[in-house]
Amino acid sequence: MSDVLLSCRGVTKTYQEGKLTTSVLNGVDLDIREGELLAIVGSSGSGKSTLLHLLGALDELTAGEVRFQDKVLHQLSQKQQAKMRNDSLGFVYQFHHLLGEFSALENVAMPLLISGMSIKQAKAKAQAMLDRVGLSHRVAHRPAELSGGERQRVAIARALINEPALLLADEPTGNLDAHTAESIYQLMRELNQSLKTAFVVVTHDLSLAAKFDRQLHMQDGVLQGAIA
Ligand SMILES: Nc1ncnc2c1ncn2[C@@H]1O[C@H](COP(=O)(O)OP(=O)(O)O)[C@@H](O)[C@H]1O
Ligand SMILES: [Mg+2]
Repeated sequence: MSDVLLSCRGVTKTYQEGKLTTSVLNGVDLDIREGELLAIVGSSGSGKSTLLHLLGALDELTAGEVRFQDKVLHQLSQKQQAKMRNDSLGFVYQFHHLLGEFSALENVAMPLLISGMSIKQAKAKAQAMLDRVGLSHRVAHRPAELSGGERQRVAIARALINEPALLLADEPTGNLDAHTAESIYQLMRELNQSLKTAFVVVTHDLSLAAKFDRQLHMQDGVLQGAIA
């Protein structure tokens, strides 16, 4: 299939501590298509975060393969992986992971500065992205001066500033009330449609997951119904 952005085959992850072996992923097969909005659900401890880390080359797999934009992740050097993460992937976490000493604008501009853009250009682009997520009036605020929902909007703006092909989000609404969670979902849907970025969102909220284009269930270390 030509429109597959990322594919996993037989992805396995086990942790070995002394004589104790913990099998977390037992052969995950998954195809993520360009521009799709996918929800992954599953009980706590089922391996959802572990899988997201492997998709983003933030951790090493035990066996199997993750292929992203026709590159096998574990065959890339550390430097190539870091470049790929900065250029082509966005990450959003349950707790925002923004830099507390910096303003919303500076946080969003950061990936552009890392890519070598001038400060002036990066700030202009970050301002436009903050406008897009509805935070024009909060650009100078630091994370501690923002509400939970606003922080997640900044985190999403930062994750999308380099126009990645794929955004990986781990319980992005897990710390928010239902109303704010819904507004964050609406924002993700809007950005998914306008930017054509694929979203993979882990959530324990089944009613939220139901709104996505596709839902997969992590169970017994595999994704149920993963390859359409
Ligand atoms: N460093 C580690 N060593 C051993 N086991 C781990 C380690 N990290 C995670 N695990 C185990 O992997 C399982 C899956 O964790 P995780 O991916 O965080 O689940 P989820 O995000 O679905 O709640 C859990 O049982 C957890 O205890
Ligand atoms: Mg988790």
